[in-house]
Amino acid sequence: MTEDHYFTAQPASADERRTIRVSLAGRDVEVETAPGIFSPGHVDLGTQVLLRAVPEPRGRVLDIGCGWGPIALEAALRGASSVTAVDVNERALDLLRRNAARLGAEVDASVPGDVPADATFDTIWSNPPIRIGKDALHDLLATWLPRLAPGGEAYLVVQKNLGADSLARWIADQGWGAVEKIGSSKGFRVLRVSA
Ligand SMILES: C[S@@+](CC[C@H](N)C(=O)[O-])C[C@H]1O[C@@H](n2cnc3c(N)ncnc32)[C@H](O)[C@@H]1O
Repeated sequence: MTEDHYFTAQPASADERRTIRVSLAGRDVEVETAPGIFSPGHVDLGTQVLLRAVPEPRGRVLDIGCGWGPIALEAALRGASSVTAVDVNERALDLLRRNAARLGAEVDASVPGDVPADATFDTIWSNPPIRIGKDALHDLLATWLPRLAPGGEAYLVVQKNLGADSLARWIADQGWGAVEKIGSSKGFRVLRVSA
């Protein structure tokens, strides 16, 4: 039996699209979602905590694990100079492309392997996929955090009871930059990594 996690490349559940109303970048907007992806009914609480904690997006922004796109869309609507969004779930990527077109936002949404190996970013905003397991999560962060340009900043939201503090210590030990907890709300922590 195929397990239909939200991080499946091609979800088995019926691709029944629906429109929901959400608030992004201070605007009430309509976006399209579907089953088989993360948080299809609303903007996830952790994502809301992240978006309230981050400063204005600076330069080239990367959203790691974009889902239907709340973080990437918010960055584009708040004036990032470019937004790259990656996910392994192709249904989620298709939804984000359609949502960006619907909102007139420019977002380059692709599977991780399609991002040029030499691309670097000034800002990373992410609600990372903790549920893929510690080793896979560490591999994911080791793929993207070293791509912060000098002076760049990554903001990650992690549930406290899913290991936010031990993840912060692990990131600090990798030498990619200084790690600080810049916010804590509703059971989530927001970590900032300054390259
Ligand atoms: C916690 S969800 C956040 C989704 C979205 N950013 C939001 O805020 O609603 C994490 C996302 O990471 C994606 N993901 C899982 N493994 C990944 C990987 N190796 N590379 C990129 N994205 C991945 C999942 O498919 C999921 O959409």
